[in-house]
Amino acid sequence: MVNYKDLGLVNTREMFKRAVAGGYAIPAFNFNTMEQMQAIVMAAVETKSPVIMQVSKGARNYANATILRYMAEGAVAYAKELGCEHPEIVLHLDHGDTFELCKDCIDMGFSSVMIDGSHLPYEENVALAKKVVDYAHQFDVTVEAELGVLAGVEDEVSAAESHYTKPEEVIDFSTRTGCDSLAISIGTSHGAHKFTPEQCTLVNGVLVPPPLAFDILHEIETKLPGFPIVLHGSSSVPMDEVNTINQFGGHLEAAIGIPEEQLREASKSAVCKINIDSDSRLAMTAAIRKHLAEHPGDFDPRQYLKPARENMKKMYIHKIVNVLGSDGKLACCE
Ligand code: G3H
Ligand code: 13P
Ligand code: ZN
Repeated sequence: MVNYKDLGLVNTREMFKRAVAGGYAIPAFNFNTMEQMQAIVMAAVETKSPVIMQVSKGARNYANATILRYMAEGAVAYAKELGCEHPEIVLHLDHGDTFELCKDCIDMGFSSVMIDGSHLPYEENVALAKKVVDYAHQFDVTVEAELGVLAGVEDEVSAAESHYTKPEEVIDFSTRTGCDSLAISIGTSHGAHKFTPEQCTLVNGVLVPPPLAFDILHEIETKLPGFPIVLHGSSSVPMDEVNTINQFGGHLEAAIGIPEEQLREASKSAVCKINIDSDSRLAMTAAIRKHLAEHPGDFDPRQYLKPARENMKKMYIHKIVNVLGSDGKLACCE
């Protein structure tokens, strides 16, 4: 049993309070590899931003749970080595689907967990989330729960269609579960294909997706003033990365994300955590494809992982500074 405080990590409570009051959002970046972890830490240190490093069940299966935990501990030491005396790094379980998985993460040093019972009937979602909260709070670990269903398919997360969060349920849910933050469904979805071209409007040759349901978000904010809200599925799927992938041998058709202006708008509200994974995958793949196409003789992974890491770092910095607004928001800077 290890407590996250002994690893130099922090939970989400204080950073969310500041983010809601300050009208910005904390980035939650998924990581599976050392290069992603390094790029996240470099970006957070350079921008003086708090950051949530999140691990999915799929990431644990891919990289090994223990290794990822030690990488997060290493992330704190690395941030200090890069000159950040008081980094605020959260190690978060993304889309935990059972009490046992959440408990395992809490016991091994995670500072925050998500229990995703969004696919369950309402009462079962409440009961599961409450069970996780009751365990987590004994160790001051914060808990994210979800109401409403996001569409999209990934390794361990899938749903055929989305169901928007019902604002009339949020007070009952947050009160009875005691959760610290609430993930909601207002039109985002997981992956790099969030909308079909038919769902979009063609404006100046660009496919513009339907807007997020800001009316639902505002209704939820009114019912739960100041309560931390989370947006999953918030990659913007940058066209330049998609084009690079396709130019150098990839085949990504109709990849469409959430326009950044909408995420910027959401960040100013009670949305205080924005989840981004697919954009990191795109940035990494685009750089690797380009490098290998331009240097066909290279076979040392460092030769192509270095530009991949640089490209991810650039993307993370862009999100922090130009979209979420969490730059300069470390407690020690304010
Ligand atoms: O929302 C899920 C994350 O993007 C993680 O995806 O389960 O493929 O690791 P994954
Ligand atoms: P994207 O697939 O849009 O990056 O969403 C990631 C996510 O929500 C992780 O939980
Ligand atoms: Zn998600």
